[in-house]
Amino acid sequence: MSKFKVTKAVIPVAGMGTRFLPATKAMPKEMLPLIDKPVIQYVVEEAVAAGLDDVLMITGRNKNALENHFDRATELEHTLTAKGDHGKLDKVQESTDLANVHYVRQGDPLGLGHAVLRAKAHVAEHSFAVLLGDDVIDSRDVLLAKMLEVHESTGSNVIALMEVDPDQIHLYGCASVVPTDDPDVVTISHLVEKPKNEDAPSNLAVIGRYVLRQEMFGVLEQTAPGRGGEIQLTDALQTAAADPSIAGGVVGVIFKGRRYDTGDKLDFIKATLRIGVDRSDIGEDLRAWLHDFAKEI
Ligand code: G1P
Repeated sequence: MSKFKVTKAVIPVAGMGTRFLPATKAMPKEMLPLIDKPVIQYVVEEAVAAGLDDVLMITGRNKNALENHFDRATELEHTLTAKGDHGKLDKVQESTDLANVHYVRQGDPLGLGHAVLRAKAHVAEHSFAVLLGDDVIDSRDVLLAKMLEVHESTGSNVIALMEVDPDQIHLYGCASVVPTDDPDVVTISHLVEKPKNEDAPSNLAVIGRYVLRQEMFGVLEQTAPGRGGEIQLTDALQTAAADPSIAGGVVGVIFKGRRYDTGDKLDFIKATLRIGVDRSDIGEDLRAWLHDFAKEI
């Protein structure tokens, strides 16, 4: 198997979710539901849809609900079986049968780069994907499959980029890029984590999908704490972009589809509505209500 053939996904979910307090006081932010499915299930479904059914979650304290969600719920399953309620039983079992989910705890919360390093033993000598647990990519828009394809053909690390309002760029990793023959693919010349808006080299934001070569573990081990005193994945990728002989350089796939930052309250509501209006069960009623509501406000 080519060492650039990816089979494993790493999903860091150790963050505390402070933007959603008090909802996240006793529950992981990744368990908040978009309609009736927790955010984390959308992310795992995305990995599986791209062919990655070996999933490693980097967890922390208070994340037991996540493990329970992907495990059997024997008592509930028995009750639904006894009632003959197969529709609901399917819903309960869907997340259990979705993927092979593994867990490792992050331990000290030393940043995204540190969380990714915790995957080293599990992914061993292959390239792997990283999906940030609170970024949801609408399943109707393709991103990860394209990134895997670009990784296999170039052997470079691949990041996902999206144009954002220049006044939002301080919330993201930011890239300087050089075009390639493919209009959706760029070569990364420089990366900086959360620059001030006025210092940002572009309005291209790094969003939460990465395909990384295993050499990035070595780079991460050498990466000193950066912004916020944390080991930043962006800084390690900047090292790889600056010297392609280290880990094959970095390319970017420009995403123009629908991405929801479910860690942000407004984006969370937008995601609920965007997904809701196209649902076969509630979509029609929700659309009609939204039209009326829009006239009211
Ligand atoms: C992380 C990354 C950042 C990236 C962002 C995407 O930041 O460090 O480079 O732009 O995810 O969501 P966080 O949002 O975890 O602070």
